[in-house]
Amino acid sequence: MKTIISNIDINDIDLNEIKKHAKLIKEGNTVIFPTETVYGLGANALNENAVKKIYEAKGRPSDNPLIVHICDKEEVYNLAEDISEKAKIVMDNFWPGPITIVLNKKDIVPKTTSGGLETVAIRMPSNKIAQAIIRESGVPIAAPSANISGRPSPTKGDHVKEEMDGRVGGIILGGDCNFGLESTVLDMTEEIPMILRPGSITKEELEKLIGDINLDPSLEKKEDNKKAKAPGMKYTHYSPNADVYIVSGDEQSVIEKINNMYKENMNNNLKTGVMCINKNIHKYEGLAIGLGNSLEEVGSNLFSALIEMDKHNIDIIYSEEFPNSGVGRAIMNRLLKSAGYKVIKA
Ligand code: TXA
Ligand code: MG
Repeated sequence: MKTIISNIDINDIDLNEIKKHAKLIKEGNTVIFPTETVYGLGANALNENAVKKIYEAKGRPSDNPLIVHICDKEEVYNLAEDISEKAKIVMDNFWPGPITIVLNKKDIVPKTTSGGLETVAIRMPSNKIAQAIIRESGVPIAAPSANISGRPSPTKGDHVKEEMDGRVGGIILGGDCNFGLESTVLDMTEEIPMILRPGSITKEELEKLIGDINLDPSLEKKEDNKKAKAPGMKYTHYSPNADVYIVSGDEQSVIEKINNMYKENMNNNLKTGVMCINKNIHKYEGLAIGLGNSLEEVGSNLFSALIEMDKHNIDIIYSEEFPNSGVGRAIMNRLLKSAGYKVIKA
């Protein structure tokens, strides 16, 4: 497939370029565009044939529902019903932004989009290019992350182009995604809302606004994974070619343990990569990629670091561990999945 690729400056959006891609969406084709979380692979959410092309391009199981992206809060009332006061508060406070809410769907949303469910996940992104493509298309856009199913989600234009050129109708390259982790998914169909996927809008922030929030219990343990309420959380995910391990313990022991394993791997002709906070980069032997200085930076760089490791043909990746609260909860969720829950105690 010939893919139309456009470079768009987010600070000076060329509407003519956006319109080329909006035309593709209107014709029932697929277009990749940047959002503030990760790049999305979009199509008209209300057109079943268009949505099927998303599943094909990603190689994604069709029981895994898609997030519907809108550019105007009021649009939610056309797509969903039984919208609670708490849901309105969340939308008013965090939209546009990196949180998706799950609501009971109206008939207008095809089952292909909702993965067969009676609910629909909706989000209004804050990225100006994302808003422009939705507005110019004139339809809500269903968009999962723009990776081949199972791979890390792309947060940089280069990574999108390398993986997806030829698989979709259009690609809009618009720089790096600033949050770098996919949106928080919050199920608001129950009295007490439940986080199905942690993201940069945290449980703690939500609780301040609307009181008690549950965490899908399946998030905590590998064994419970199959019970996840968000179908997407059941699958193998965020996997680079290398085998990923999280190394846990106090800082000094972690560094020593990883450096010892590095030597062993060398003897076995295996290439080792390390993901760590910036201040520790120079303490590791071999290739170490710094994820940043703060948890926010780690979140934003995690997926691109996993993809970079593949470019260096790394066989084994060791990652430092991060605190499992606030944004750290989203980071550890993605890291654990990427590692297939393999944790080495230092
Ligand atoms: O940040 C994001 O959310 C990105 C950007 C592109 O917006 N999108 C994204 O989509 O991450 P995707 O398809 O990769 O992940 C959507 C997640 C999956 O885990 C899916 O199972 C869950 O949301 N989900 C979607 N609709 C749902 C529903 N009706 N009920 C429960 N979970 C749902
Ligand atoms: Mg995804």
